[in-house]
Amino acid sequence: MSKKYLKPAPEPPAIRDAMAKASQREEEGLPVYDFSSGNIGRLLMEYQIFDDFSLSLGQMPDTFRKVARALSEGIREAFVDSVQGLAYSPTGGTEAHKRNAGRYFRQVHGVPLGEGEESDKVIVTAGGQQAMAAALRSISPDVKVIAPRWDYAPVTGIASDASWEFEKLPPPKKGLGFSLNDLEETAEEGSVFYNSMPNNPSGFLSSEKLRGAAEIMAERDGAVIWDAPYLFTTFDLDGGGASFDADSLNETVEGFKKIARDYHENMCILSSISKTCLAAGIRFGFATASEEWIQNMNAIIGRENLSSPTASFIIGDKILQAFLDEDVKAHEWISKILAGRVNYLLENDLPLILPQNGKFGALYALLETEKRGDEFAQELSEEGIISVTAEPFYGKSVNAVRLSLVAVPYVEGDKLWKENVDTLKETLG
Ligand SMILES: Cc1ncc(COP(=O)(O)O)c(C=O)c1O
Repeated sequence: MSKKYLKPAPEPPAIRDAMAKASQREEEGLPVYDFSSGNIGRLLMEYQIFDDFSLSLGQMPDTFRKVARALSEGIREAFVDSVQGLAYSPTGGTEAHKRNAGRYFRQVHGVPLGEGEESDKVIVTAGGQQAMAAALRSISPDVKVIAPRWDYAPVTGIASDASWEFEKLPPPKKGLGFSLNDLEETAEEGSVFYNSMPNNPSGFLSSEKLRGAAEIMAERDGAVIWDAPYLFTTFDLDGGGASFDADSLNETVEGFKKIARDYHENMCILSSISKTCLAAGIRFGFATASEEWIQNMNAIIGRENLSSPTASFIIGDKILQAFLDEDVKAHEWISKILAGRVNYLLENDLPLILPQNGKFGALYALLETEKRGDEFAQELSEEGIISVTAEPFYGKSVNAVRLSLVAVPYVEGDKLWKENVDTLKETLG
């Protein structure tokens, strides 16, 4: 069925199309007589620019070692075994990259992608952010796009220069997240609901809410954009404080998996290795959606970027492969730190705005403030304490700031974090 909420997918630019054909033939081992593009890095392709390369693993958390090994393999592939890293490569990912991203969506999100479907239903992007922007910019001008009151600030920014109508749901009467009744009332035929889940900035996550939203949007022939880079950085949060438990995380991931299995046809799912593998500087994100949606995203990204960040894609793909095949557990290390950091904020009685449904995700906590968040963040910054005003996440003025739980490096006993929080506490008086 055609998706009325999407723009008609434009033709790919001729140069990008030609480059993609050349690269696909090369991947398949077919002869290529390449007159396609100004891919100047290819002039060096028969040379080896580094004779000597060795990286030995240093001191790091054990759970990160497999990611570090994948990183070194990626660097080798991009710059030592060949000089591919200096050349253009297809925006949207090579077929091999898309296959791995497709495996992620199959294994983690339960999307029933058939063998070979990755080619048309998956895209690899320079980070989840690029996927998110392209997913939103694919939406038809006459469509209503809805988001929860608290949500990722750049979405409101993209909405401000998009021609579609944007509406934020009211804050729910109880807790964080959103009310399904509000969504039912706001969603029109063919609307699109964006939400980050686990949520940046509030930490809210609930598979029941996401399932409810998916059902509401599917009934209206609309869609859900599920921005999910934080799926693996989640932990339990109840009256006793925050704690990480691997079984509980698995249950959470399994709970979400059933949603994509049932509603994937009306969903665009976005993710990346940034958070799960602590690799935000390697720009490697991925999305899955209907063919029309992916075609739109490809066209949008391909218009602005002649090439993917080739080295990032090669390295990111290695890291993703390690995550899928080698049982990388770097996220468990992060989640334990996150839980400890939230506990330290709680022990200090800081006025946090936290989800009340027993779960917490993402990498931030909202701090309630006595005055407007922007004024408060400004005053804190004069003392060297850097937070982010919550206003752009809320969509209007609000008495809150967002505290990142990961900007302070981790050392044994998390002493640096404690020092930072102690200073914040002292300043708040
Ligand atoms: C909700 C959400 N989506 C997407 C992104 C983009 O992340 P990346 O581009 O590193 O994958 C972020 C980054 O913080 C985010 O919070």
